[in-house]
Parts: sequence; structure tokens; C-alpha cells
Amino acid sequence: MTTPPTSAKPYTIDEMISAKAIAARVESLAREISEHFADTEKLVVVGLLRGSFIFIADLVRELDLPVEVDFLEVSSYGNSTESSREVRILKDLRGEIEGRDLLVVEDIVDTGRTLSHVLDILGTRHPKRVEVCALLDKPSRREVEVKARWIGFEIPDRFVVGYGIDYAQRNRNLPHIGAVRFL
Ligand code: IMP
Ligand code: MG
Repeated sequence: MTTPPTSAKPYTIDEMISAKAIAARVESLAREISEHFADTEKLVVVGLLRGSFIFIADLVRELDLPVEVDFLEVSSYGNSTESSREVRILKDLRGEIEGRDLLVVEDIVDTGRTLSHVLDILGTRHPKRVEVCALLDKPSRREVEVKARWIGFEIPDRFVVGYGIDYAQRNRNLPHIGAVRFL
């Protein structure tokens, strides 16, 4: 693990969800998603960068469907643990999505603002069906009503890292999900 910059407060990470539990959950989510989209011509799996990159890699390998993978990057957090209000597109999709079946893959639904904004943008492009799969959900933090059809795990209001998720760009490579605890 990289050493935090000296300006950052020291912290430790408490394991919250083991790598084994994540793998088992990914497998069952993929089974449900494969059943739901069983009649699709081809599913466009839209990963929201950067936090979903490990989740999407594991999930698509368990999907029993023809898939395409595309990525969208929006900003909202910067290097802080507080949600800022602004959501901007940093990297758009490469492919056209009109008339397509989409699965949006997000790491965490927190206030719901990011996902709600992303769904608005994608909706203007007239996809056929859009569903959301989020690895983590913090329902107690919700400010905007937004529904993910599939949720990996509901978690309490803790700042988490690992399995692709960062704190100030650190700890994405942790194989499990842990909660940040400042010392
Ligand atoms: P929302 O717009 O408030 O729902 O924020 C969603 C985004 O904030 C997620 O996609 C994450 O990138 C980030 N985020 C929310 N909670 C956490 C956390 O506990 N750790 C790291 N990133 C988080
Ligand atoms: Mg994110």
C-alpha cells in the first residue's frame, strides 16, 4: 500500500466485505442479469470510471450474454470524502446507444446525484432499455431518488475503499472492501 501524502490524516482500513463474499455476490448478480437480458441482441455494459473498473471486469466474465463494454467518466468528488454538487462528463461513451440495451455499472450509490445525472444523459440518447447494477448502496445518504435494479451490498454510512474504490486515488487495489478509519 502506498504511503499517504504527509498532508493527509493517517488512517487505517477495517475490512467490511471479504474478497470471497464479493466474488460470490458477483456470481449471483451476473446470473440474475443474464436472465433479465436473456433475449438481448447484445448488452452494452457501461462502466462508470474509475471506481467500477474491477467490478465490471469480474461481472462481465460471469455474464452469459453477448456483451459490449464501454466506459463513461464523470466527476463529482475530487480528493475529498464529501460529495460536491457538480457532475461533469470527463470521458464520454465511444459507441452509439440508441435502441440498445444498457447495463450501467456503478461502484457506489451515495446521494444518488451521480447516477441520476448519468441516467438523464443516457436517456436523451434513446436507448431501448436501461438498468443499473451498483456494487454498493448507502441508502441512508440518499438525496435524490434513483433506483438500481441490482445492488451488491447495502452498507452503512462509512467511507469505503478497495475493489476499485479509492480514497484520494489510493487503495483501489485492495482485494476486499474496507472502511476508512482516521487515527
Ligand atoms: P453520489 O453522487 O453521492 O451518489 O456519489 C456517488 C459516487 O461518489 C460514487 O460513484 C463514488 O465514486 C463516490 N463515493 C461515494 N461514497 C464513496 C465512498 O465511501 N468511498 C469512495 N467513493 C465514494
Ligand atoms: Mg464513482
